[in-house]
Amino acid sequence: MRLRNEKGNSAMRAAILTISDKGSRGEREDKSGATLRQLIEEMGGTVVEAGIVPDERPQIEAALRKMAQTAELVLTTGGTGIAPRDVTPEATRALIEKELPGITEVMRLKSVEVAPTAMLSRAVAGTVGCTLIINLPGSPKAVRECFSFIKPAIPHALELLRGKGGECGREK
Ligand code: MTE
Repeated sequence: MRLRNEKGNSAMRAAILTISDKGSRGEREDKSGATLRQLIEEMGGTVVEAGIVPDERPQIEAALRKMAQTAELVLTTGGTGIAPRDVTPEATRALIEKELPGITEVMRLKSVEVAPTAMLSRAVAGTVGCTLIINLPGSPKAVRECFSFIKPAIPHALELLRGKGGECGREK
């Protein structure tokens, strides 16, 4: 079933995965996930799935695989740095078929103008089947900033992925 937004266009089906040990234990409010939901809906998209997992590679990979079955865009937040428990890039790389370095290069390049520590993000982006996965950093501020930098390329990326026709196995 294709979801349609209020303009009658087929709404972008997005999923949000928050990667946070504390968040997964209920010890921290998932403000970054909430921020992403707001940004996706402002763009006319629909959040078809949202979840929180700890910084554990198997759980991140399993959640990404599951979300990629229903969403055409999966945005993760958190775990992209060099702290001991940061493994989001490794989990994402284990899944993606085509890496999209341009997305994360732009994210880091534009981010360092507002946050020099942005060069510490090892975020990865790429496709698995007809789904685009993009890692974003963990803070709501970073999520908002990075989303604004990559937003212009998302609709065309999804059009290209949808263009695969039946390969996606999803109703068009
Ligand atoms: N990017 C933007 N736009 N704004 C930020 O504040 N924070 C940086 C970086 N990218 C930041 C950013 C910091 S402090 C870190 S440690 C890395 O993202 C990794 O963050 P993560 O481990 O929460 O993913």
